[in-house]
Amino acid sequence: MSKEPQAIYLKDYKKPSFAIREVNLTFELFEEYTIVTNVMKFLKLDNVQELRLHAEELELLEVFLDDVALDQESYTIDEESLSVKNVAESFTLKIVNKIYPHKNTELEGLYKSGDIFCTQCEPEGFRRITPYLDRPDVMSVFTTTVIADKEKYPILLSNGNKHQCHENFDGRHGVTWHDPHPKPSYLFALVAGDLGSVSDEFTTMSGNKVALNIYVDKGNESKCSHAMRSLKEAMRWDEETYGREYDLDIYNIVAVDSFNMGAMENKGLNIFNSAYVLANTDTATDANFMGIESVIAHEYFHNWTGNRITCRDWFQLTLKEGLTVFRDQSFSADMNSREVQRIEDVKGLRERQFVEDASPTRHPIQPKSYISMNNFYTSTVYEKGAEVIRMMHTLLGEEKYRAAMDLYFNTFDGEAVTTGDFVWAMEQAGGIDLKQFQLWYHQSGTPRLIVDEKFENGVYTLMLTQKILDDVDGSKQAPMYYPLKMALINQDGALALEKMLIVSKEKESFSFDGFAFKPVLSINRDFSAPIIIEQQESDYAFLMKYDTNSFTQYEATQNFAIETLESMMQGSKIDEAFVEAYGYLLDLDIDLSYKALLLELPSISTLMQRQEVIDCQIIYSAHEDLAKHLADVFQEKLLQIYKENHNPDSDAIDAKSIAQRAIKNRVLKLLSASETKEIALIAKEQYDNSITMTDRVTALDVLEHTDEPLAEEAFKDFYNKYKDNTLVMNKYFGLLSSSLRDDILHRVKTLQNDEVYDDKVPNLVRSLVGTFARNHKHFHAKDGEGYKFVADKIVEIDKINPQMASGLCSTFKIYDKMNKENQKLMKRELMRVISTQGLSKNSFEIIDKILK
Ligand code: PHE
Ligand code: ZN
Repeated sequence: MSKEPQAIYLKDYKKPSFAIREVNLTFELFEEYTIVTNVMKFLKLDNVQELRLHAEELELLEVFLDDVALDQESYTIDEESLSVKNVAESFTLKIVNKIYPHKNTELEGLYKSGDIFCTQCEPEGFRRITPYLDRPDVMSVFTTTVIADKEKYPILLSNGNKHQCHENFDGRHGVTWHDPHPKPSYLFALVAGDLGSVSDEFTTMSGNKVALNIYVDKGNESKCSHAMRSLKEAMRWDEETYGREYDLDIYNIVAVDSFNMGAMENKGLNIFNSAYVLANTDTATDANFMGIESVIAHEYFHNWTGNRITCRDWFQLTLKEGLTVFRDQSFSADMNSREVQRIEDVKGLRERQFVEDASPTRHPIQPKSYISMNNFYTSTVYEKGAEVIRMMHTLLGEEKYRAAMDLYFNTFDGEAVTTGDFVWAMEQAGGIDLKQFQLWYHQSGTPRLIVDEKFENGVYTLMLTQKILDDVDGSKQAPMYYPLKMALINQDGALALEKMLIVSKEKESFSFDGFAFKPVLSINRDFSAPIIIEQQESDYAFLMKYDTNSFTQYEATQNFAIETLESMMQGSKIDEAFVEAYGYLLDLDIDLSYKALLLELPSISTLMQRQEVIDCQIIYSAHEDLAKHLADVFQEKLLQIYKENHNPDSDAIDAKSIAQRAIKNRVLKLLSASETKEIALIAKEQYDNSITMTDRVTALDVLEHTDEPLAEEAFKDFYNKYKDNTLVMNKYFGLLSSSLRDDILHRVKTLQNDEVYDDKVPNLVRSLVGTFARNHKHFHAKDGEGYKFVADKIVEIDKINPQMASGLCSTFKIYDKMNKENQKLMKRELMRVISTQGLSKNSFEIIDKILK
């Protein structure tokens, strides 16, 4: 690095010195460049002489101040800004600048995804389009005209309502869009392309008709029905659940193949990674269908939580993201199974957020500083942020929570606010004091709670101790405040007591009397607080049978499995009590998708997180042994479950069919641990006859780990069928690079040369390189070659797309917990990457934190 990138601090926040009352943009799109004409009406808000606009990688052509062309002395440009001297109280600035979208591989600002012009402006991409006050607390009314070749770009879109069409200037045409709602620049969007579309209509609760359109590459129109249905359901749900109605005449969604994230909530013009729009049962798994439903809803919900009320500054990101994730999780729970949804959400939180919260990149949901804001679209801000909202929901209860949300919307509509403003609304309408609770916004790390119990003279006492972690910088943190749902269950299995405790002190105890025998504790029911429980003793087998809370029942099965695996890792034999309990689960007559979750063994990453010094190889071997044992002992029963639920002729996506596929594929995967030819043949048959991607993907994974020749045959067939469908090819690369077979690194390296693979397409990078870097067995290989490969890719991809590269850097974040041998190998690669000439600030920030 030439000079070390500078951090930005929350404490340095200052209000903007100017407001932009309106902005009028004209885009003239050409193949080699785009001309942007930007007319802004400014109002001075305090006593300054100079206007400093954000501007990055822009070629300035002309600047006019109140219609007078400015000479070179009246303004200055540097790498980050354009400054205009001596401006009046109110004035109009017109800027004409040139950009090169086809060269934009960062995918921020205006860029091309294939033949489609599209934009991504959050958080700071707008300044790569035209000079502006590119910060979320500057909100303005946008009018946008897009002009392009009519044949190549028949569809021209921007935010808001369609205002005017302009026909025929030499084969070129234009459309003007007007968005009446003042918005920050990060919500700006533009799309131009030759797209197919699917249209529908929604009538809002007050009777307004909204035109709904989904734009996709031609030929994909038939894959939009699930997305469209999800959108309409989300619109209805937000009316019913939050009383929030849509506020424009039109709602457009565009699917593009090259996109850094999942999707973006631009006002009236969402831009989506095509992976979250396109689906049919032949090409998308059941999990993909669920993902689409939740992301479509998420972006829609942002219209109120994000767009109408936005963030004052980027430190407030969780204001819109945590809240909107909580809203989309609640929506999915209402649309599907509440119990399964909660478990899936917690699983995701633990796999991603707990890992982050235990690493050197940990940060509060409201960070205090950043170098690159792109690095803070994290699981912590999103998923832990959602847990924080959920806790307030739990503390207030449904009714008061809704009143608090109404107050929030009514008070702050049209404004850019802080998380403090949100908490204020919760306190006002909830009638509670959330002062200590607010620590959740400012402290990092997953809180731990040590749980002890005592039983004397019929009195059961619960003794709780909060283990308080230091912040990353070593500074002391304080005890947290949270709701802790618990229950006591009598020895005969009857529920004796159910309660929500408030935990707030470092040490406290709660007593309950009137027990003849010591009851069994069920703690953190529904996962009411995102914490780690350290319980001295627990009767998991009992809770597996008698707990009435689906979450803690699931938790008991997981904990029992963890306990069993960990003693195996220390050399003990398999605990037959666990095997027996597992057999009990197999016989349960319960919802099959929930049952599929109960039967899943804890992930490798779950066990890694619990190791003081990480060594994954011994986890893999215990895991394999236990799975194999269960597969052998229960072979007959498992095969029976498989047969009962295998419906090769059905591709229905109703709850029952999805649940049947889930349980059937869960037991098939477990059976494959015994590596018999019989199971491989079942998997091959499933592959050959299946009409759903869900079944095909499991069959391929099972074959890959049981029978090399059969796997090769199936993968070849799969490739030939789907090589023209990049979304399916992502699955192909993902399956091949997550394999536990030997010599996977060599395979991954070779796959980079496949004609379908492209380092410039984020989905492909994620499915090949990203998946490999999460393949603990091969990434952490003792020869260091896994690290070396990923480090090489970071250096290469950093030059193309820094946001992608820093995502790969994050896979090194468990560095300080690895065993010495692996640590040394990791360090060598990290040092090499960080000393690369011209490394982006994105990658620098992550690696610098890991190495500190
Ligand atoms: N705001 C988007 C969302 O969560 C995420 C996103 C961030 C997309 C930055 C692109 C760039 O819905
Ligand atoms: Zn979001």
